[in-house]
Parts: sequence; C-alpha cells; structure tokens
Amino acid sequence: MIDATCGNGHDSLALAQMVAGNVLCIDIQEQAINATREKLKKFLTSSDFKNISYHLGSYTHFPPLKAAPSLIVYNLGYLPGSDKTVVTVAQETLVSLQEAITLLKPGGSISLTCYVRHSGGKEEEEALLSFSKSLDKNEFGVCYHQWINRLKSPSLLLIQKLNN
Ligand SMILES: C[S@@+](CC[C@H](N)C(=O)[O-])C[C@H]1O[C@@H](n2cnc3c(N)ncnc32)[C@H](O)[C@@H]1O
Repeated sequence: MIDATCGNGHDSLALAQMVAGNVLCIDIQEQAINATREKLKKFLTSSDFKNISYHLGSYTHFPPLKAAPSLIVYNLGYLPGSDKTVVTVAQETLVSLQEAITLLKPGGSISLTCYVRHSGGKEEEEALLSFSKSLDKNEFGVCYHQWINRLKSPSLLLIQKLNN
C-alpha cells in the first residue's frame, strides 16, 4: 500500500492498522515524513512498524517498489496547521495518477480525497474527474462520492483496476 500524501500520518496509521503489511509513506515535506514516522512509532506494534517505509519527495516520481501496490491513497490539499502554500496541484496529481494506475496491482484500488475550498482545489478535482471518466470501463471501475447536503464538501474518487 502507498500513502502518496502522508501529511500527519493519520491515513498511514489507518492503513497500517487495517491491513498488516507494507505501507510506503510519501510526502514532499520533511516535517510530514517526520510526523508520520512519530505517529506510527507511537501507535503501531514494533513488528508492524518494521513494515513501514518512507519517501521524502514528490508523488510525481514513485520510488522503486518491491511489489505492485494493492492500494494507493491520496489525501489532497495542504497539511492542516502548516504552510498552506505547499499544496497538491492539478497537473502534478494528474501525472502521479497516470503513473499510479500503471503501478497498481490488478484488483487494486486508488482513492483520492479532493478538497475544493482552497485556491486550485476545484481545478484539481475537475482535472482528476475528467481523466478518470476517460478510463476504459473494461479495465477500470471508477466512482465518485460527495456529501450532497454540504456546500463545497470534500469528495472521494475511487478507481479500481479490474482483475481481467
Ligand atoms: C491533506 S494533507 C495529507 C493528510 C494526511 N494524509 C494525513 O493523514 O494527515 C496533503 C499533503 O500533501 C503533501 N503534498 C503536497 N504536494 C505533494 C507532492 N507533490 N508530493 C507528495 N506530497 C505532497 C503536503 O505536504 C501535505 O502533507
């Protein structure tokens, strides 16, 4: 599994706790990698903690992987409580997603949580939706969730690579 935007480590922890196995935590900010490492060290058993690896860098270039990931998670936007200028941007997320769908294990999934309140957020969501809608239905299942009783709510885009 890959957490492509590990931030404060909440999602990485949930992934590691849900499925005991390897989790690769990626973030472009060193403080995010450090915060994630600290959180996982605190809440995981030492044997589960050994299954975690970290990559300081952009999700536009995934590091070499030992095996095809079954799940790649993106929680987009900026790190809460931090520098809001370090934010995911449409073009880079699109580049990353295009690589992610090739890396993904057949039967595996990608989730993208999109936020539209900040500048560039709506454009990012639209770019991802446009790309995802163009994916061949014989190769990928794509669905989109949104809270419809909340204004400008976060949305969830799910892509499954079919196990043909
Ligand atoms: C909403 S936060 C992620 C929250 C995180 N998943 C958690 O559970 O705390 C978005 C993260 O994306 C990271 N980010 C922004 N651009 C990035 C890029 N090009 N590559 C990797 N991470 C990036 C930010 O540094 C920030 O930590």
